Amino acid sequence: MIPPELQLALPERTIPIWVQDGALSRLGTMVRSVLSEKETPRITILTDENVAALYLDEAINSLKDFHTRAIVFPPGEGEKQFARLRTILDELISEGFQRSDLLVGLGGGVVTDICGFAASILYRGVRWVAVPTTLLGMSDAAIGGKTGIDHALGKNLIGTFHQPQAIIADLDMLKTLPEREWRSGSAEVAKTALLSTPELWQEIQKISPDFSNWPQEELQSAIRVAMRGKIDIVEADEREQNQRRLLNLGHTFGHAIEVATNYQAFRHGEAVFLGLRAMLHLSVRAVGLPSEEAHAIDAVLAKVPHPAAEISIDQILSALEHDKKKAHGKLHWILLKAVEQPVIVDDVKDEWVREAAEELVGYLKEGDAAPFGNRLSRVLVLNGPNLNLLGEREPEVYGSQTLQELEEKIRRRAEQIDVEILCRQSNHEGELIDLLQRFRHWADGIIFNPGAFTHTSIALRDAIAAIDTPVIEVHLSDISKREDFRRQSVLSPVCVRQISGKGISGYFEALEFLAEQK
Ligand code: DQA
Repeated sequence: MIPPELQLALPERTIPIWVQDGALSRLGTMVRSVLSEKETPRITILTDENVAALYLDEAINSLKDFHTRAIVFPPGEGEKQFARLRTILDELISEGFQRSDLLVGLGGGVVTDICGFAASILYRGVRWVAVPTTLLGMSDAAIGGKTGIDHALGKNLIGTFHQPQAIIADLDMLKTLPEREWRSGSAEVAKTALLSTPELWQEIQKISPDFSNWPQEELQSAIRVAMRGKIDIVEADEREQNQRRLLNLGHTFGHAIEVATNYQAFRHGEAVFLGLRAMLHLSVRAVGLPSEEAHAIDAVLAKVPHPAAEISIDQILSALEHDKKKAHGKLHWILLKAVEQPVIVDDVKDEWVREAAEELVGYLKEGDAAPFGNRLSRVLVLNGPNLNLLGEREPEVYGSQTLQELEEKIRRRAEQIDVEILCRQSNHEGELIDLLQRFRHWADGIIFNPGAFTHTSIALRDAIAAIDTPVIEVHLSDISKREDFRRQSVLSPVCVRQISGKGISGYFEALEFLAEQK
């Protein structure tokens, strides 16, 4: 058995938690080690389209000793509904999924929540494995066995406790995490740090509250510390009778922001960062958190950007009122006396809550309007045959920089203009077609240097014509000035543009062109 980095010890069993680089490629071995020796269950992977585009093939490949299939559904919180659950259950039952089979939830919080819930109710409970792919999923959602779906009247209103057999987190996956997803997860890590891991809070103060900026090694150990923090709380109170409620630190105001904006404008973690800031205000008033300490914590949390929103104090208060009704007329506030000293309080004065709500409305106004919503989110940069040899291959034609250097420069440029990119290279026509197909929904635009296939491949031309995603054809050299056979591109009629002969600047130009289209 590959030794797990962490374990969640519960009365009925101990759940191994693997947290490592490249864990996805060892999924099969890890899953095998939580089964009994004789059995080979069939496996159904539940995942969303975004994650499937990036990781499904590798997951299936790693599980090749099992009979494995997948159910793929659209991404987003909107899918955490009865309707989606029903189609999942319909498909599992009609495909002959058996009680002894295994579900694998490959994705962020939405996927693992719905997968765990389906597992808990199908045939009164089948086994499942959580493979969280986001920071939020790894550090929070996938640990602790809370499963569920949303109801029209609120999030997570329907659900169960149903622990997975194992939690498998591949830290390499964080490399493809979009910027706002980083923030979303960072909030839950910051929350755990304030609650129970002061050494992690000190690191956060030193480095940044946004983990997308962290150096690799520190990041990995921070994630493990945060997971350990959550595990300790779940071990002490699996069913949220008592201590587990502390994990709602910052969530009361955070939830009010999400409700007031109809869950549209904020990622969960962005709302939680703001909710933590409002909680500090209340903590000073209600439980004597020293105001210098509150300011110091606030200064760190305030570094994380968030969208601007025009919300009134009354909107916040009425969302809180609604939560209060659900909790039998009493809101249980999780507040801080100091870092690592949370308390649960239910007699907070209305005027203090109003003051904190006022503060919150101020933070919301100060938000950042520009980078949210109107940015081009994702671009795939695809390089074709022989471009892996850049630097070494005919440098007088293609220049001396390697493919890695070229990709790194494109990545940096993309960051500057707020575009998320993925780079892929293949020498194989079929693989290039697979990549175009696989990333067609993930990407808003594709920058494609098809190499010599430019001049011959009708199959690639068909693949580009078959997808709606705009493709820009790029060549380092000026193909119009080279050998006769290179002058014609069979792909250019189906691409939105051809940029040729500008070296790496051609890729930059393509990136900017796509960004302007959005
Ligand atoms: C190329 C031009 C193609 O003709 C050639 O086969 C390549 C590279 C370029 O970037 O200039 O491999 O696409």
